[in-house]
Amino acid sequence: MFEGKNVVLGVTGSISAYKAVDIASKLTQKGLAVDVVMTKAAMEFVTPLSFRSVTHRPVVTDMWELSSEFSVEHVALAERADVVVVAPATANTIAKLATGLADEMLSCTVLATKSPVIVAPAMDAGMYGNAVTQENLARLRSRGFIIVGPAHGRLASGLVGMGRLAETDEILGTIFQVLGRKDDLADKQIVVSAGGTREPIDAVRYIGNRSSGKMGYAVAEAARDRGAIVTLVTSVTEIPPPVGVEVMPVETALEMRDAVLKASAAADVLIMAAAVADYHPARVAEGKIKRESETLTLDLVKTADILSEVKGDIIKVGFAAESEDLIARATDKLAKKNLDLIAVNDITAEDSGFGTDTNRVTLIDREGKVEPLPLMDKYEVAHKILDKVVALLSPSPD
Ligand code: CTP
Repeated sequence: MFEGKNVVLGVTGSISAYKAVDIASKLTQKGLAVDVVMTKAAMEFVTPLSFRSVTHRPVVTDMWELSSEFSVEHVALAERADVVVVAPATANTIAKLATGLADEMLSCTVLATKSPVIVAPAMDAGMYGNAVTQENLARLRSRGFIIVGPAHGRLASGLVGMGRLAETDEILGTIFQVLGRKDDLADKQIVVSAGGTREPIDAVRYIGNRSSGKMGYAVAEAARDRGAIVTLVTSVTEIPPPVGVEVMPVETALEMRDAVLKASAAADVLIMAAAVADYHPARVAEGKIKRESETLTLDLVKTADILSEVKGDIIKVGFAAESEDLIARATDKLAKKNLDLIAVNDITAEDSGFGTDTNRVTLIDREGKVEPLPLMDKYEVAHKILDKVVALLSPSPD
């Protein structure tokens, strides 16, 4: 997905500089070429060798180092970067960037680049709260820089306040979102549902299912990474909300229906990965049902079929979790719910389905074309589905 993309990661002198090693490593694992540029102060906290080891590339530490491959043309880095990220960014570096100083490689690169720049501040709460830092950040924002964080929490001084470097996932999510801006789903509105709904029985109990929400979250992130404007309608899950995605939290099938209908009204695509309850209790008991009678019968009423209710000029993708007759049942669902595509998986397989990080699905389209996919990471499965969605959005002339 990110093969061939270049990131310049600027690291400055903050105690949180060690976290940048993890950021560099995760970006490299995603297939990005990461050029790390360190300020002198950064090297007091972490060594260039750490970055070189995880990125497998030279680390730029000195603008005047003649043996460096970057020394000849100091704007070469700026030109080849698809995105420049300064994480952590100290108050000093932020001040330099805001005023256009260019006295070392990182500030030169930021000044020279035409690519988007992401800045993740990290500093003491007093320095962050100071009016001059706030003015500098406002200046950067007004020039189109993207500021991530800082977060509130425990600082190196032992005090608690604003100034912690944003979480790695938040910084990575922002990078992927920025890189995907011009991709093949740019500006498309995509609604994704995720997780298993909860249907209350009484004040403390509910009917639920084993859906973890992982597949839907992976679809939402993959769509975001291809430039889509994503709304994620999600029931309760343990997964942190993805960065750069509008999240609509719901609990019951009825709430999910209302949220999906609302979000889908102006959308181009709906992808229903949620495990929606088929039935909900006819009545929700007040308080907590007592353990008195020998048997207890719950009256259940059928829920609305959300996918069938969504109509209009929208591409609809469904999932089908089946235990037998996979293709026949999924094809039947595709027709009944008027879908463009359905992804079916075998819930009896251990490596795919509920709770796992991987999934093995078969895609079936309206024309009855059946495409079995190998076992893959859920994020990769999401991209395979989105490849089909892209084709459906702009059909070829033949
Ligand atoms: N779905 C929906 N509304 C429901 C139930 C399911 O929109 N009330 C969607 C799911 O999100 C999924 C697809 O329909 O994308 C198929 O869901 P599944 O549970 O496999 O099918 P059902 O229609 O519920 O049929 P059955 O449970 O009998 O297999």
